[in-house]
Amino acid sequence: MCGIIGYVGDKQAAPFLLAGLKRLEYRGYDSSGIGIVDARTKSFDVRKINGKIANLENLIHSQPLCESSTGISHTRWATHGAPTRINAHPHVDTRKNILVVHNGIIENYESLREKLQSRGHRFVSQTDTEVVAQLIGEYYHPSRSSAKPEDLLAAVRKAVKQLKGAFALGVIAADQPGVLVAARVGSPLIIGLGRGEQFIASDVPAIFQHTKKIIYLKDGQMALLTPQCVQVSSFDGHKVQPKVDTVNLQIDAVQKQGFAHFMLKEIHEQPQVLKQMFQSRVKHGAVVLSGIHLTDQQLKNIKRILIVACGTAYHAGMVGKYIIESLANVPVSVDVSSEFRYRNPIIHQNDLVIAISQSGETADTLAAVKEAKARGAKILAICNVVGSSLAREADAILYTHAGPEIGVASTKAYTAQLYMLYLLSLKLGMARKQLNPQLGRKLLKGLKHIPVLYAKILSEKGSIAHIARANSHFGSFLFLGRNINYPSALEGALKLKEISYIPAEGYAAGEMKHGPIALIDEYRAVVCIAPESDTYEKMISNIQEIRSRKGKVIAIATDGDTTIKRHAPHVIYIPQTEKLLTPLLVALPLQLVAYYISVKRGCDVDQPRNLAKSVTVE
Ligand code: M6R
Repeated sequence: MCGIIGYVGDKQAAPFLLAGLKRLEYRGYDSSGIGIVDARTKSFDVRKINGKIANLENLIHSQPLCESSTGISHTRWATHGAPTRINAHPHVDTRKNILVVHNGIIENYESLREKLQSRGHRFVSQTDTEVVAQLIGEYYHPSRSSAKPEDLLAAVRKAVKQLKGAFALGVIAADQPGVLVAARVGSPLIIGLGRGEQFIASDVPAIFQHTKKIIYLKDGQMALLTPQCVQVSSFDGHKVQPKVDTVNLQIDAVQKQGFAHFMLKEIHEQPQVLKQMFQSRVKHGAVVLSGIHLTDQQLKNIKRILIVACGTAYHAGMVGKYIIESLANVPVSVDVSSEFRYRNPIIHQNDLVIAISQSGETADTLAAVKEAKARGAKILAICNVVGSSLAREADAILYTHAGPEIGVASTKAYTAQLYMLYLLSLKLGMARKQLNPQLGRKLLKGLKHIPVLYAKILSEKGSIAHIARANSHFGSFLFLGRNINYPSALEGALKLKEISYIPAEGYAAGEMKHGPIALIDEYRAVVCIAPESDTYEKMISNIQEIRSRKGKVIAIATDGDTTIKRHAPHVIYIPQTEKLLTPLLVALPLQLVAYYISVKRGCDVDQPRNLAKSVTVE
């Protein structure tokens, strides 16, 4: 959601910024822009446009930017004001001295705007960001002959102290080529350290080809960047000695590698991701979760687990409830992060809060974590992105190490979260002596075998594609599952609606009779998740109820199930595994069904409309 990239150095800024914006496309956006400093005229040269980056590229091609080695750029995901050229970033102040890009939301922008207008500032956009440019502009007025980098830093410092909400900012001044100021509260921002050049960006993929040395700016910190150095300080003006991390991202991880879409590539990466998780987390038959920072005694003392997450990660959390309760005998509640925060949650001593997030930047989950911490909870994060805000906020972290997930629809991150929850449940169950050792061994064996089963499903993806295409004309879908696969139904529906825009609902199959059955007719496709399980017979009854009302059934069943063919015209088979592990296998055909329907309908699989990869505003 909104991407920032900025540059000061000795090279041309515009090509660098444009290439960086392309690497941030996956975050989700609806307009983009680039602004650079023209050192000759001490003014800005700006290009902005709505729609895809390709539009910006074409615009710059037809109206080339001047030469400059200082610039900022942005992909905007509209919050305040429509996705138009005027509302696109960067934004300039009335005197045209200050240029700003911003990620986040300025909550007090209306009152600031009124005050600034009364003092003569003229606003041209509907955005909250424009107040930031105007505010900094108000404080920035060095004489043109003696402008110093510190003047810009001081003006930004005065301005940020008045802002409420979340923001990552990149700021340049027309009379200061070679100077860039960054600031952050709540929204992610990193600084890349180069030789004779420095960068800012919303995340690593935008700049990792230029430097591996990264500073993760913390909340309440700002930085002054010049080609030679970076100075980090707090909003109060105290100098900070930042930690410099080395990132180890390979170019393959952010390229499609011959796949038609990132989503398809990421679906295919799952066997390898899970195999690596097993190899690094299971040693001599025992689960090793070094990042957990809890002794067996502390694990024994846990009285309750509260899981907070959003979207797909929330569905992983729901599966987590079933497995933790059944293997470790600890009560678990699962909340959508945005609800948890406002429901006055009760937290006792010995409660553990588990926050699940692929990006580690989801504003709702971060807010829930802060709320839980304020109430005295210990936070364990399950997260994919190393160094993310969640990773820093949590007391303990279990990284899934699934690699960058570029497709907006979460696939490998989801199954990696599930896999981690299985490992955690086994660890908890063993430490608390609640798990029958024989069952523990069987489940570990099953988990080890999952990557092989994934490879088998993927080798048969042609038949899944066929079923998906044959049903791609339906105007609405229902997904039904029971017990541990009820969350799978929710996830299947979410995946389909996200990337194909087909209205899709997930339901606990037992609930069908309590309402959704009214929707069933020949125009409704129903995906029935019916692997071998204790509720299999009940699913068959549901399928019959759907068929008697002419609903079109697509069943997901276990290899060798010949009965189901009599009831469902389309059956997708998954290999046999332990019943408790079936959500891991069911996830794969659900992802593929959504993918092939999206492709067939000509949708933008990797960057579906209105969606953002990391949702950094509440
Ligand atoms: O980065 P997070 O895991 O915290 O993201 C949570 C949701 O925004 C995310 O899972 C979203 O629902 C995905 N687009 C689902 O495919």
